[in-house]
Amino acid sequence: METSNERLSLTPNENFYKDGAEYWSKIPPTVDGMLGGFSEISTTDIHSSKTLLKQLFTSTKQPLGRGYALDCGAGIGRITKFLLSDLFDRVDMVEQNPQFLESAKKYLGKTILEKKIGQMFPVGLQDFRPEPGKYDVIWCQWVLGHLTDEDFVAFFERCKLGIKPKGVIIVKENISSGQVEVDTTDSSVTRPMGLLRELFDKAGLDCCRMVKQLGFPKGLFTVYMFVLRPRHEENVGSGE
Ligand SMILES: C[S@@+](CC[C@H](N)C(=O)[O-])C[C@H]1O[C@@H](n2cnc3c(N)ncnc32)[C@H](O)[C@@H]1O
Repeated sequence: METSNERLSLTPNENFYKDGAEYWSKIPPTVDGMLGGFSEISTTDIHSSKTLLKQLFTSTKQPLGRGYALDCGAGIGRITKFLLSDLFDRVDMVEQNPQFLESAKKYLGKTILEKKIGQMFPVGLQDFRPEPGKYDVIWCQWVLGHLTDEDFVAFFERCKLGIKPKGVIIVKENISSGQVEVDTTDSSVTRPMGLLRELFDKAGLDCCRMVKQLGFPKGLFTVYMFVLRPRHEENVGSGE
């Protein structure tokens, strides 16, 4: 894996998305493929995510609804299968690689596919526009490094409109310890905490909870979950 420490320039390589798509087109549609060979972390990952969501469902202040979730950068549907379809009535998936979505139909199994899956959108997040006011949760995990800073902010501005009034956006991502780390193999970046928080802020999102993922093997990036809500003064989630 080739990496270099650089801040992603405002005008990234023009092939940034094309190179990312090409990388993923060669990856097998398996959990190991989705997790870069670390399929063993999947159970711990899902367990921690489930704990967080269950806490949000029972929050006395603003209990999270269990109607509709959106899985962003869904891959073959690992998160949809083990987390979202278990906790929500319905799940949509958005994924830039149409082959992964095709594989998802088998991977998820007939029951989940028929009873839980709404729509599958074969499109990059940089071009995706969620339907206004549709989702209780928009879940983004291990995919935001594939967006430029500019598209990241624009995507979350659209997501703010895609959630219900009490909905949340949840981000679960690797965090770099110093500057942005650029990975030229899969055409992605890993951002430091400061930059991630700055981009959330630019998108008009408040981080109301931040949880560090525990129990992953040493040598992997630190991972955090962020629970994000549109900043108060804005008129969002109304579907207008
Ligand atoms: C590391 S995998 C993670 C998959 C899934 N989120 C999980 O945790 O199991 C990254 C996924 O993001 C997808 N992806 C990459 N760039 C994307 C983009 N611009 N828009 C949407 N999905 C993208 C890849 O095709 C791949 O399925």
